Amino acid sequence: MRLDKFLADMGCGTRSRLKNDIRKGAVAVNGETVKKADLQVSPETDEVCYQGRKLTYVKMEYYMLNKPAGCVSATEDPVHKTALSYIDSVRKDLFPVGRLDIDTEGLLLVTNDGALAHELLSPKKHMPKTYYAEVDGAITPQDIALFAAGMDIGEKRPTLPAELTVLSAGAVFRAEVTVYEGKFHQVKRMFEKTGKYVRYLKRISFCGLKLDGRLAPGEYRSLTKDELALLRAEHKERL
Ligand code: URA
Repeated sequence: MRLDKFLADMGCGTRSRLKNDIRKGAVAVNGETVKKADLQVSPETDEVCYQGRKLTYVKMEYYMLNKPAGCVSATEDPVHKTALSYIDSVRKDLFPVGRLDIDTEGLLLVTNDGALAHELLSPKKHMPKTYYAEVDGAITPQDIALFAAGMDIGEKRPTLPAELTVLSAGAVFRAEVTVYEGKFHQVKRMFEKTGKYVRYLKRISFCGLKLDGRLAPGEYRSLTKDELALLRAEHKERL
C-alpha cells in the first residue's frame, strides 16, 4: 500500500496535504524519515509514525448502532443528523448497510466493508430482518395469514412471505415482524395494507445479528469476532 494512502485511511489528512507533510519529514517508516508519498508499506509489518505518533492500521471496521429516531441512514445530510455522526472513527469510508426510515429506531450496521455489505443487501439472498412494531388497530389471524402469504403493496411483485407474531393486544398492539427483503417502508406498507398504522418501529435483528439491548438510542459498539463470523456465515449459507 502507498504510504500516503495508509496515512489518509488512518485519518491523518487528505492525500495532497499528506504528500506535503511527507516531503517536509513528518513521517518515519521503521524509524527512518521518508520523503516519498508513493513508498510501498506493509500495514502488517512496517511501523509507520506520523508526527512522532505510531499508527496502527485498522482495515475494516464493523459497528452496531442503535439508530435513534430523527437520524437518517445516510453518510451526509444537510439538515438531519446522520448515522455516521454518532460513530467516532478516523475512517472516512464508513457507511450504513441499508436504510431505516428517519423515524425508525434500532439496529443499523455501519462498516467500510463494501464486499460484506453487498452480500448482506443482495436481493437474491433473502436475508432476515426482524422489527418490533407498535400498531394502532387490532392485528387479526387474517393479518398474520396475509403477511405469511406475501402481500401486494403496489410493487411489481408481491412481498416474500413474512412472519408476524403478536406480542400483546390492547389499544396498541405490540408485534414482531420478520421480512426477507428490504422494500421501501416495507413493514409500514404491509400494515397499512391491512388497515393498520405503525406508530413505532424498531429493528431488533439484521441478517442474524441481534441488537445489543444495552445500547440506548444513539449508542454503538464494535461487533465482536463471533458476531462478524455469524454475519459472514449467514450470507454464505444463502448462496
Ligand atoms: N420497514 C419500514 O417501514 N421502515 C423501516 O425503516 C424499515 C422497514
